Amino acid sequence: MRGDARELGARQGVVVVKVHESLDAALVTAQNERTEEKNTGSPCERAGMATNLTVNGVSRSVPAEPDAPLLYVLRNDFELNGAKFGCGLAQCGACTVLVDGKAVRSCVTPISAVARSEITTIEGLGSPSKLHPLQQAFIDEQAAQCGYCINGMIMSAKELLDRNPRPSEQDVRAALAGNLCRCGTHHRIIRAVLRAAQASGRTRT
Ligand code: FES
Ligand code: FES
Repeated sequence: MRGDARELGARQGVVVVKVHESLDAALVTAQNERTEEKNTGSPCERAGMATNLTVNGVSRSVPAEPDAPLLYVLRNDFELNGAKFGCGLAQCGACTVLVDGKAVRSCVTPISAVARSEITTIEGLGSPSKLHPLQQAFIDEQAAQCGYCINGMIMSAKELLDRNPRPSEQDVRAALAGNLCRCGTHHRIIRAVLRAAQASGRTRT
């Protein structure tokens, strides 16, 4: 009986050692790949593949394939993490950004389609010292619960207020109909957009 236990223990030890060896090998491979990429550039860079994008007024060439989703490039290359990955299928609106003033789902927009456009993300709306009226209104109304949908809500609302500075509640509801909030803070979100419209009105006069 004790012999069986010893044998089982030894076998388990062998398995643990083998798992550690596999993990070590995987880590070394990943490290080698990273070093190689640092020395020679990413596969896209090596293939001379680059797309010029203008985001928040800054133009930059990014080493990415033409069909790379705009959302990935914004988050990985521009390091702008305001736009979120929700569904990846143009269904939730968490990834919404403005392209030439129009709200688009960046998760399904290839960068080749926006290479000649002005792209605006939530980071381009205001600054920590001078928030955009929408950002201020969302804070004032405490519209965010988990906050995951808020980027998309604000960017869709920005498109609405740019074309309709004094929207009715119905207009706001229609403009945000494609943006989902799983926390259910829609009432506060709608109040925030109406509040921002009022604040912008006061600013203009
Ligand atoms: S992540 Fe783009 S619409 Fe959901
Ligand atoms: S605040 Fe959580 S999803 Fe909208």
